[in-house]
Amino acid sequence: MNKDISEILLDENRLEQITVDISEQINSDYKGKSILIVGVLKGSFIFLADLMKKITADCTLDFIAVSSYGASTESSGHIRLTKDFSEDLTDRHVLIVEDILDTGNTLSYVKEYIFRKGAASVKICTLLDKPSRRTKPIYADYAGAVIEDFFVVGYGLDYDERYRNLPYVGILKEEVYQNQNKTKE
Ligand code: IMP
Ligand code: MG
Repeated sequence: MNKDISEILLDENRLEQITVDISEQINSDYKGKSILIVGVLKGSFIFLADLMKKITADCTLDFIAVSSYGASTESSGHIRLTKDFSEDLTDRHVLIVEDILDTGNTLSYVKEYIFRKGAASVKICTLLDKPSRRTKPIYADYAGAVIEDFFVVGYGLDYDERYRNLPYVGILKEEVYQNQNKTKE
């Protein structure tokens, strides 16, 4: 285990099972429809890849990028779209794939933006859900695991762009980000 991780929350077997379970639900819910899968960069990329291999419904893929964090464990609340859609969203059935639903700031912004672009439907699929932190009335249609208020990394999720490569989701030791957050206050 990486020295900066205090505990593994989701190991590789559990992550595999999550993508199996969610893909089965998606395949049944979207039967006969074409899905536009939208990955929110960068945190969703591993989850999205593992999930998409198991989707049998007709689908296409697009990515968007939003930024709100920087080197901190707290979202700034100011969402910026740093990469826009390349596909036309008019009348599409959009499935947003995200790494973690935390305060809900990011996905409220993204969901509204997609509706404004004329989508027929928008659903949210997130690997992790931290409902205790929510400040916006937004929920996940598909969630891999509900977790407590820990800062987690791995399987695509980062802290200051690091740890995305870990094959599991683990709790980051507080000492790793304590000093960084202090200097930001
Ligand atoms: P929200 O806008 O507060 O819901 O934050 C969503 C974004 O914050 C996610 O897409 C993640 O990139 C990031 N985030 C929130 N919690 C964590 C965490 O525990 N570890 C890593 N990134 C996180
Ligand atoms: Mg993210």
